Amino acid sequence: MWDPKQYSLFREARRRPFFDLLAQVNALAPARVVDLGCGTGDLTLALAERWPEAEILGVDSSAAMLADAQTKHASSRVRFLQADLARVPLPGPASVLFSNAAIHWLDDHAALLAHLAGLLSPGGTLAFQIPANFEAPSHRCVEEVRALPRFASALRDVRRGHAEPLAFYLDHLVGLGFTVEAWDTTYLHVLPGENAVLQWLLGTTLRPIVTALGPEEGAAFLDTLRPLLQSDYPARPYGTPFPFTRRFVVATRVSSA
Ligand SMILES: C[S@@+](CC[C@H](N)C(=O)[O-])C[C@H]1O[C@@H](n2cnc3c(N)ncnc32)[C@H](O)[C@@H]1O
Repeated sequence: MWDPKQYSLFREARRRPFFDLLAQVNALAPARVVDLGCGTGDLTLALAERWPEAEILGVDSSAAMLADAQTKHASSRVRFLQADLARVPLPGPASVLFSNAAIHWLDDHAALLAHLAGLLSPGGTLAFQIPANFEAPSHRCVEEVRALPRFASALRDVRRGHAEPLAFYLDHLVGLGFTVEAWDTTYLHVLPGENAVLQWLLGTTLRPIVTALGPEEGAAFLDTLRPLLQSDYPARPYGTPFPFTRRFVVATRVSSA
């Protein structure tokens, strides 16, 4: 379902929140760092550079993304594992669990946080970033087209990403024995190229949809969506402004509660 080439189209805009999150992780010499939902592994490598003594493990459920990661980045210190984040097994406790733009695809964030907490060593850090723009015009346009009779039944079981409110992450993680920093940031991306917002969405939100619909119906879906996005995100001579809010959580385990 995931397409590394399409995801990499807006590389710089997608990288920035990763580094904004990483800048807030204070771990000095972690032994084991895990990149949850590592995708093509390009940014997993940035974790390896930040912590040159650490053992690094990238985990992802997508064979296509991991194939890219393996060929480009695997080494004796940087390994990759295909697994579902909801059940990921680790060889031993992690010092840092890091996740950029991945866990919004998982349904039950309370269960996920409890599972991830159990993978961390005492004093370890869980840091994640997820989109928090599910009420944005881009998502409303996608929902409008999903609801059309032509597409609705084929897409009934196709999953959507979601983010819980900031206070949800704070409450759950404090309850699990963490201290928590949590915040939102709105980026105002300026996307290059034609139909830029559609192209952006094709890297993420639209993947499960076009995969489920197949080539012909998928193309019809995009043809219907394109003008809605053009109207909500008019192109300017310098590019297409695209506001995007993201949610950040950095939680440090202070007890074994
Ligand atoms: C938007 S990409 C982000 C990739 C990378 N973290 C980055 O910042 O470039 C989301 C990744 O999450 C992975 N993913 C989604 N649901 C997953 C799950 N349940 N278990 C493991 N990986 C998952 C996808 O395969 C995809 O590679």
